[in-house]
Amino acid sequence: AIVVRQRLREAKRWARAAAVLCDLQERCAAPAARLRMVADAMDVEMRAGLASEDGSKLKMLVTYVDSLPSGDEKGLFYALDLGGTNFRVLRVQLGGKEQRVIKQESVGELFDFIAAALTKFVASEGVDYHLPEGTQRELGFTFSFPVKQTSISSGILIKWTKNFAVDEMVGKDIVAELNEAIKRKGLVMKVSALVNDTVGTLAAGRYVDNDTIVAVILGTGTNAAYIEHVHAIPKWHVHLPKSADMIINMEWGNFKSGHLPLTEFDQALDAESLNPGEQIYEKLTSGMYMGEIVRRILLRMAQEAALFGDHTPPKLETPYILKTFHMLMMHHDTSSDLKTVSLKLKEILGIESTSRKTRKLVVEVCEVVARRGARLAAAGIYGILKKLDRVTCSADKPRSVIAVDGGVYKYYTFFGQCMESTLRDMLGEEVASSIVIKPVDDGSGIGAALLAASYSQYLQDDEI
Ligand code: GLC
Repeated sequence: AIVVRQRLREAKRWARAAAVLCDLQERCAAPAARLRMVADAMDVEMRAGLASEDGSKLKMLVTYVDSLPSGDEKGLFYALDLGGTNFRVLRVQLGGKEQRVIKQESVGELFDFIAAALTKFVASEGVDYHLPEGTQRELGFTFSFPVKQTSISSGILIKWTKNFAVDEMVGKDIVAELNEAIKRKGLVMKVSALVNDTVGTLAAGRYVDNDTIVAVILGTGTNAAYIEHVHAIPKWHVHLPKSADMIINMEWGNFKSGHLPLTEFDQALDAESLNPGEQIYEKLTSGMYMGEIVRRILLRMAQEAALFGDHTPPKLETPYILKTFHMLMMHHDTSSDLKTVSLKLKEILGIESTSRKTRKLVVEVCEVVARRGARLAAAGIYGILKKLDRVTCSADKPRSVIAVDGGVYKYYTFFGQCMESTLRDMLGEEVASSIVIKPVDDGSGIGAALLAASYSQYLQDDEI
């Protein structure tokens, strides 16, 4: 009788866990028709954001980057990268077409700290990089947050996103703050280009492929930038750019639409986040949040279906303990006994022993969350291509290259593949053949240095 009761209890637990999964699959589903509505909403919001300053959730920020690197840039430039997983300083030697780039970097963990790191970096330079005494070093500053730029090398922080929150910085010109901190350290260096990571990625993409028109970051956060015609930016009447194009930093992470498949897990995550009500699309698709969504679902399964035994594992109650990186390692586990899943559950969540069935369920949860994110990212890209009139067939359609970077895209193979196949399905075979998704490495480092080079004082002086 005891055995029978145990079996019955076990069966009930599974039925409950399966019900949570089933419900989740249903609520996270992003079928083609829904994706089209998301894409259409993205297109509409893009236009609204371009029309007026506060016209949309999409800021559609004018970046003052009106020309992209040609590949002929030469010289020694520095890049500072803030806003991804690491804070980095890089030295980039640009050698023109033949010699492309050489870079070195130092990785570390706000402005005095940054300036100190810069000073240390420059002081440790070998003789190869010795510049004549007093020469101004030029810096491309990748600052991956929403900034209202006032020129190519100045801009005001609109708000923090991801896990940053230094309130007194909001509303300040971040380049002025950095330049002052640099001066205090006695370093002769100045920021010649302030760029978002998407803009750096677009520049780096363009450097290797002239047909690059869009850049997407799928990393800790998510965002996209693209090349827009100046005449399609009604709100832009301050400054007449040299060319007829302007790079727009969309800040698409803040996109929101009634068509997004949101669950109660997402709503709770949002409500308890540093920025409730904001960055909703980012909270569904990016590295900072996907692991946390999975944790919340597993917690529910532990509480309601005793998925991990009679007691809820205490660590499972710790917000953000499960990183998207752990999620992808579990999801990519192809071993027959799901060894990595078992190891990660133990290492990260302190769950000692699990059945294969339980581990399989964990993988399925990862899959549901990743698939939804990837499909929504594809819909976003489709929306941009639609706005640019690149989703219909015509004989003279140019090739469109989309530069993509970020840890989620780079390491989460399932995510990248799902995003690409979803985009292909949305485009249809013929159009898809003219659209290329291109991984671009380190746009926020090299791209920023390239833009520092393009907008460097020296080049401008040469042009005069
Ligand atoms: C966040 C930032 C955005 C950045 C993106 C990717 O969405 O607001 O500026 O491009 O993360 O790093």
